[in-house]
Amino acid sequence: MSPSGTAAHPSSWWRNAVIYQIYPRSFADGNGDGTGDLAGVRARLAYLKDLGVDAIWFTPWYLSPLDDGGYDVADYRVIDPAFGTIEEAETLIAEAAALGLRTILDIVPNHISDQHDWFKAALKAGSGSPERERFWFHPGKGDDGSQIPTRWVSSFQGSTWTRTTNPDGTPGEWYLHLFTPEQPDVNWNHPDVRREHEDILRFWFDRGVAGIRIDSAALLIKDPELPEVPADPPRGGHPFMDRDELHEVYRSWRAIADSYEEPRVLVGEIWLPDIPRFADYLRPDEMHTAFNFDFMVRPWNAKELRESIETTLYAHALVGAPATWVLSNHDITRPVTRYGREDTSFAFDAKRFGTPTDGQLGTRRARAAALLTAALPGCLYLYQGDELGLPENEDLPLGVIQDPMHFRSGGVDPGRDGCRVPLPWTSDPAHAHGFSAPRPEGTTAEPWLPLPSWWGNHAVDVQAVDPASMLSLYRAVIATRRGEPGLCDGPFAWLDIPGAASSVLAFTRGDIGCVVNFGAEPVSLPQHSAVLLASGDLPDGRLPTDTAVWLRL
Ligand code: NOJ
Repeated sequence: MSPSGTAAHPSSWWRNAVIYQIYPRSFADGNGDGTGDLAGVRARLAYLKDLGVDAIWFTPWYLSPLDDGGYDVADYRVIDPAFGTIEEAETLIAEAAALGLRTILDIVPNHISDQHDWFKAALKAGSGSPERERFWFHPGKGDDGSQIPTRWVSSFQGSTWTRTTNPDGTPGEWYLHLFTPEQPDVNWNHPDVRREHEDILRFWFDRGVAGIRIDSAALLIKDPELPEVPADPPRGGHPFMDRDELHEVYRSWRAIADSYEEPRVLVGEIWLPDIPRFADYLRPDEMHTAFNFDFMVRPWNAKELRESIETTLYAHALVGAPATWVLSNHDITRPVTRYGREDTSFAFDAKRFGTPTDGQLGTRRARAAALLTAALPGCLYLYQGDELGLPENEDLPLGVIQDPMHFRSGGVDPGRDGCRVPLPWTSDPAHAHGFSAPRPEGTTAEPWLPLPSWWGNHAVDVQAVDPASMLSLYRAVIATRRGEPGLCDGPFAWLDIPGAASSVLAFTRGDIGCVVNFGAEPVSLPQHSAVLLASGDLPDGRLPTDTAVWLRL
């Protein structure tokens, strides 16, 4: 049996795996300094094993000034000392593998930290130097070069250009950064950039890493002419997004991944509304899978989600790749909060402080969403803390917020720290609810982001012994999925629920049926021989609002 529980060839594990995302800063703190670390993860591997996941995806753990939570890498071959050492990372990968858990790392190829040796050397070497050719340095427009080279807008709002200062103190060239000024974009037309990333892949693959998640995967290549973004860019011809030349980069990465005895896996972070263009990245000689953001951002609504499921399955069938189902990650408002609001969709530019939220409603829907996503064909991603039903922490004091999205919005956008708060492991509030292991003298530092006092109710130790908890539900969902061949690789077909088509999603996977009721009224269940799992009670054997059920048909 493969770690995914099916008898399929082990090298296909990624086709229907359950992958747990760890945000290392906030998962578990093994040395009591208030920041999560690799020692903390190692101490909690048994928890992940019990949860039943197949693999762990770590957001960046490399040396970084943490200007963007680690997505500003200063050295890929060094673990940030706040998290541990390279030896510890190797031990962790091996210990996880011994438990049947594969490791996926984040690679951030679009940009590096301004503290990376390459960028420091480029700044020092000055304009026209070979060191600067690895980046996008450019003179400004206007007689004195004081105007930005393009009016491209950063993914984090504001300009994408920052001006340098010459050694004599005069203003110098500008450099490009699609995110913050501390994250200069590298030039993918430069052979050093390609070679270096290929080496980085081998460096980690050689250490037993099973795959990589590719950050901002559709942004790497820029039009060297640096034109403005046209009103209606031709497909493949946007100045910095989804350019045709990208595919050749991923083909070369796929060749490296395939050169290993157990081929390594490439997972793309690709935000593209153009579905056939999205699918192009998943052709058999490119990436294996990509995150399904279309599903994640849709509102809690049968029609919307059905449309997204159909589009997703259609797009993936074009290229024979498995879909992924994702409810959240370290960038997105937690499902329990999102689904408890009037507008249950997600959009970065719509995030605001003080949006009214019904936590009970959101939790009920998030439980149903767990059954829905886990029953769909493909891979399931689970962001740490969603298995505990943690809400977004919207009460962070302004003084502790670190996310650049908050600052670059002028404080209007709450930022993403609310979904990055450390996990509560114990109901006992000591040591940040068990997030931090006490130091030898028995104390622990304050956690890097504070946990709300009432999060004790969500703690792992409470939920582990409560059969009605979100944690127990997730454990049952993953175990049932693993044990049912229909849910692993059974065929998908929509199921008609007469009279409720607009408010119910129902489908079969082999002999298993999944029914989700989005409507206000309870609905009758299709004929079945057993209820395998339900996200809530089924009074009179009917499926109430915002509830999902798995049936043996
Ligand atoms: C996507 C990552 O998920 C996000 O956290 C990061 O800020 C940006 N890419 C830039 O690397």
